[in-house]
Amino acid sequence: HEHMGDDLAKVLLTEEQIQTRLSELAGDIWKDYEGKEFLLVGVLKGAVVVMADLMRALPGTAPMDWMAVSSYGSGTKSSGVVRILKDLDTDISGRHVLIVEDIIDSGLTLSWIKSNLESRSPASVEICTLLRKPDVVKVDIPVRYVGFDIPNEFVVGYGLDYAEKYRNLRCVGTLAPHVYA
Ligand code: PRP
Ligand code: MN
Ligand code: MG
Repeated sequence: HEHMGDDLAKVLLTEEQIQTRLSELAGDIWKDYEGKEFLLVGVLKGAVVVMADLMRALPGTAPMDWMAVSSYGSGTKSSGVVRILKDLDTDISGRHVLIVEDIIDSGLTLSWIKSNLESRSPASVEICTLLRKPDVVKVDIPVRYVGFDIPNEFVVGYGLDYAEKYRNLRCVGTLAPHVYA
């Protein structure tokens, strides 16, 4: 466990690539909202790392709130079941909301969260995700800010876990087969 790097089969995105892209996204976001206050809504737990870095890459300050839903459990495949575990602390009526996610895989989690938030009469709801996988075309949710489109492989690191492990890795990578054995 001391050498988690040994558990990676390959690195898809380095720390530097991620930080560079987040700075670009932060600049785009700040320009698009130009002076309008927007609320960052992170989706626990995977989004904690991207939230921490994205909010600090913004040229100014933005409030944040969190939701917790569960769709995966501890495995690598989506169960298709979305449960709300923790709701927002904030009333978002009339406010601009920017959902922050680490990854969109099937899109089930975000399409559910987006329509749930839209039912609360916000001024707008947009999505920012670090990673997006190809299967999301099946649910067709418009994602305004995408860090990277990645292949359909199970990835960990930078907030993404396998059985709650590897969230602390600074890169994004795939796991070696021995990890699953
Ligand atoms: C992962 C990931 C996204 C979601 C994407 O979360 O962080 O939130 O799955 O999958 P989908 O597009 O197929 O719905 P997970 O449910 O593993 O919880 P976690 O963030 O606590 O790891
Ligand atoms: Mn998640
Ligand atoms: Mg997970």
